[in-house]
Formats: sequence, structure tokens, C-alpha cells
Amino acid sequence: MDHFDYSDGVLHAEAVALPRLAEAVGTPVYVYARATLTRHARVFRDALAVLPSVQIAFAVKSNPNLAVLKVLAAEGYGADVVSVGELERALAAGMPPERIVFSGVGKTQAELTRALEVGIGQFNLESAEEGLELAEIARALGRTASCALRVNPDVDAGTHGKISTGKAENKFGVPFDRAADIYARLAGEPGLAMRGLALHIGSQLARLDPLEAAFTKVGGLVRAIRAAGHAVTHMDLGGGVGVPYKAGEVFPQPADYAAMVARVTADWGVTLMFEPGRVITGNTGVLLTRVIRVKDGAGHPWVVVDAAMNDLARPAMYDAWHDFAAVTPDGTRMTANIVGPICESSDTFAMARDIDTVARGDLAVFRTAGAYGATMASTYNSRAMVPEVMVDGDRWAVVADRIAPATILAAERVPDFLV
Ligand code: LLP
Repeated sequence: MDHFDYSDGVLHAEAVALPRLAEAVGTPVYVYARATLTRHARVFRDALAVLPSVQIAFAVKSNPNLAVLKVLAAEGYGADVVSVGELERALAAGMPPERIVFSGVGKTQAELTRALEVGIGQFNLESAEEGLELAEIARALGRTASCALRVNPDVDAGTHGKISTGKAENKFGVPFDRAADIYARLAGEPGLAMRGLALHIGSQLARLDPLEAAFTKVGGLVRAIRAAGHAVTHMDLGGGVGVPYKAGEVFPQPADYAAMVARVTADWGVTLMFEPGRVITGNTGVLLTRVIRVKDGAGHPWVVVDAAMNDLARPAMYDAWHDFAAVTPDGTRMTANIVGPICESSDTFAMARDIDTVARGDLAVFRTAGAYGATMASTYNSRAMVPEVMVDGDRWAVVADRIAPATILAAERVPDFLV
């Protein structure tokens, strides 16, 4: 459920009519509904309340906007970060350092140092090498780093290949059959406090069984590590729960996920940690765009909108589907291709799609754009950096400015040797 509904024939974000925002801020623009964000945060958190001890670290990469992080911090969420940039955002949003988890396959020395200095709650180590480096830095700083070892369970998540992370051929984590040895080695390393395992097998999972298979497999590893005399007090089960992108699709609900986790982890006796991203933010946002013109084609007409692959990269990168809807539909339908203005054919949002009839100047939205939307934007083709707006009831605010091409140009330099 979201809060983007029609009222008197006009699509609204909560109580704000989208044409008002288009007029005030221009298009393209991401629009977030605070009510949806809060609701999703609560539904997920409340579903997990069936588990004895839980920590939720929002996957900042899915939507790092400061206002979004503020809302989630107020709901008791910590953060899963993958760069010092995300770390600073989580801190700026007021997330307590001890609720911050640092994931990522290539944390630099500078990043590890900063995270130790601010006292984050957990490092998810991706290798023995990383653990040894972190131990050295921790000793030099006179600190102890709480760590989980990320395991690659070699389970197929059944999602798009580019967002699968838990197969042996993926770069993430340590191989399953070496995990117990690496854990033992790192547990003996001064400067580190090994407290558990982490896994994340992929994103936009449509089914729970790959997650269940991975958790079950890793449960066996917990027993083996404990049998070897090491402590396991925290288990980080990652993110990955998918959301429907097409109207009518049915996806596992947070309650189904929580029930599965409760069943699989019943005898683990640990604090369970979660890193949800898309399930919290996906449906909290739309990308509002204006039709530049409708161009006749050899087949279906081309609806050329002012949003492009630089603003919403998912269709170009993963062939992802985003529902498209007119802001003031007239009740008729057309079949069309929807494309942006960028000069390559991958700048295509949809082909031969049955959509609301739109014409030059009309406003429309791509739905379910709150996760991996604005955060993946670029300025390709010297386009502006897309802005973001948050709505709260009948109030709204720009929460990220549009960065004009002129501002980006002003940051470039022509070196002396060229003049
Ligand atoms: N934890 C880790 C270690 C991750 O790598 C990710 C996502 C998450 C948690 C959050 O996963 P989620 O709950 O959002 O599925 N750009 C792609 C998605 C990339 C996901 C990367 N990792 C897309 O637009 O579909």
C-alpha cells in the first residue's frame, strides 16, 4: 500500500496534488510520501517483533536521502552502510553509531579507521584479509571492532543476475566451506571481537525459499563454530525481500518473512539483525515526469518523457518494470513505447506498454521508484541531477535540490597546459 492515490481525477501524494509540485519544482522530480515510509517501517518492525531479539539496520543504499534517514531514525532504525559517505549520512540523520553496520566488499583503510573512531556497532567482514587489516587499525587506535563474518552460502536467490550476491561465483563473503576456519582465525586476533555471521543473497527476491535455504545452511555453520569453542551472539540475515512493481503482483509479506525466520532460527539463541532496503522505501516514492512529445513510430508511438535513464537507471540496467500512470488520466488507453531523451537505445522505460493515454505536456509517474531511484541517478548527457521532494499530509518540502548543469560545469577546470 502507498499514499499515491487519485482524488477528483488528479494523482496526489498524500494530500498534495502532483501538478502543484511539478509547477513549483519542475520535472523530473522524485516525490516521497512520508506516510508510506513510516507505515512500511512500522509494518516491517512490528512483523519482526515475534522474534526474541532484533536489530534493524536500514540499507542506506536503497535511499540515502537525509530526510528519509531522519524518518527511519525516529522509527528506531539503525543503518547498514557501504561507504564512508553513507556512514556520515547515517550519523547526520542522528542514527546512533552502535546501530550502524558497515557492509561492503572493498572498505578502505580510511573508511575502516573512520568507522572505528565513531564507534559503529558492527563490521561485516568480507574476507580474512579485511579482518586482519581491521585488527591492525583497531590495535593502533586502542579499540576493539565488533565483527560478523559475511558468508557466501552458495544459494541461488532466483532474482536478476546483476543483483544476485549469494552464489559461489559472486564476489561477496567468504566461501561457505572455509568460513569456520576463517572465523576461528579472526576470533583469536586481538583488536577484533567476532560475534557472528552475516549473509545477504540478493535483492528483489520474489520468494522466501532461497532465503530459507540460505538461513538453514548458515544455521549449521553456527553450530559448527560454537562446537569449536567460539561465541556467536549476533546473526545478520541481510535484506532482499522484494516488492511488487506491477499492479496485482503478489509478494511475500513481512509477516510471512518473520514467521519463516522464527521457524528457522528458533534454536539459535542470538540477536537477529536485518538490513532491509527496498521493502521499506520502494513504494514510498514515484518519479514525476512530463511528456515532452509523442512521436510517431514504425510500430507503436514513442512517448518521450523528460525523465531519462540518468534519473531512473533500473529499466536500463536490469530491464526493470515500473508502472506508468498519467497524473490526470482521461479514462482512455493507448499502447506505446516510453522513452527518455538520452541518446542511446537503453534509455527505454517500456516497450509496447498498455498505458493511460498521454499527450504533449501531460504529467505522469513511474511508480515504486523510492528504492534505488534517485540514489542511482547521474548527470549523463549533461542533464541536471534530479531533485527530491517529501510530502507529509498537505505539507511538502524539497529534500534534495536539482543540481543544474551549470553548477556541475562550474566544478570543472581547464588545466593551464591547454591555454
Ligand atoms: N544488505 C546488503 C549487504 C546489500 O548488498 C543490500 C543490497 C541490502 C542489504 C538491501 O537489499 P534490499 O532489501 O534492498 O533488497 N540497484 C539494484 C539493487 C541492488 C541491491 C544491492 N544490495 C536495483 O535497483 O534493483
